[in-house]
Amino acid sequence: MGRWVRVRAYCSSANLGPGFDMLAIALNAYYDEVVVKVEDEVEGVVVEHVRGPYASEVIARRNTAVEAVSRLLEDIGVSVGVSLSIYKGIPVGRGLGSSGATAAAAVIGVSRLLGLKLSASKLVGYAGQGEKVSAGSPHYDNVAASLMGGLVVVSSDARGELRVISVPFKGYFALVTPMNPVPEGKTGVMRKVLPSHIALEEAVRNFSRAAAMIAAAVKGDLELFGVLMSSDEVVEPKRAPYVPCYEEVRKAAFEAGALGFALSGAGPTMIALASGPKVANEVAVAMRDACECCQDPLAKVAEPAPGAEVIENG
Ligand code: HSE
Repeated sequence: MGRWVRVRAYCSSANLGPGFDMLAIALNAYYDEVVVKVEDEVEGVVVEHVRGPYASEVIARRNTAVEAVSRLLEDIGVSVGVSLSIYKGIPVGRGLGSSGATAAAAVIGVSRLLGLKLSASKLVGYAGQGEKVSAGSPHYDNVAASLMGGLVVVSSDARGELRVISVPFKGYFALVTPMNPVPEGKTGVMRKVLPSHIALEEAVRNFSRAAAMIAAAVKGDLELFGVLMSSDEVVEPKRAPYVPCYEEVRKAAFEAGALGFALSGAGPTMIALASGPKVANEVAVAMRDACECCQDPLAKVAEPAPGAEVIENG
């Protein structure tokens, strides 16, 4: 491998209802690319330029990818200059794991250039550190999905040791993204609306649903997966009031044949599960049409995407 690589990483939907901070899926609706260069004349980790449809929303000096790569290099004790050129194709601050995808691409790029033999869980750990920059605390669901692809489960122990596990999943999704203004540091704001403690019975009900979702994915039972992804009683109800037309969009999704519906990450994107591509398309149109209070809503259909990968090098 040469001195630079171009890495593509897809967007992701975290939580999928009851799987708060532990379940996420990479989707082929949008992607970022990062050209990672190891350069003698560069000091530290810098963003060289940002382009693409959502470039203007990226704050280069506080970029998640800079933080992620800096932590990786510091940890392995390697001092090289790294420059990052970012193509930002994922809408920013919309619950699509935009910052996580950039961080995942950058970490994979550095790892390939330096020939590192780190486990996927380790790489997710570094990429997730970047989320501190955007959300105030690290969380690993989005980065895990973008880095590994498909549906992933993230588990951590009390010391913060991560285990990231891929789960086989095939399904079709409809996404609607309102482009209404969101607060600065939206994920952090949307984490503050959540309760810091919940009753044990509530926790058990949510854990059981998240565990059953994984079983449904493994069995290929889309109907069960859909019912369960629509059943979060801890996080989504607290965030829904901040999402434009949440109730109307949810209703329209089910009327158009969706098997399940959830807020994508911290929102405001909404995601629905469908049994096939045609229904997914109908659901996406119905959701967009129902989002009368959404500004310029984006509607997309999507399938699970591959993990972050090098698509060019030199
Ligand atoms: N699991 C995180 C949250 C994802 O819901 O806050 C944020 O993108």
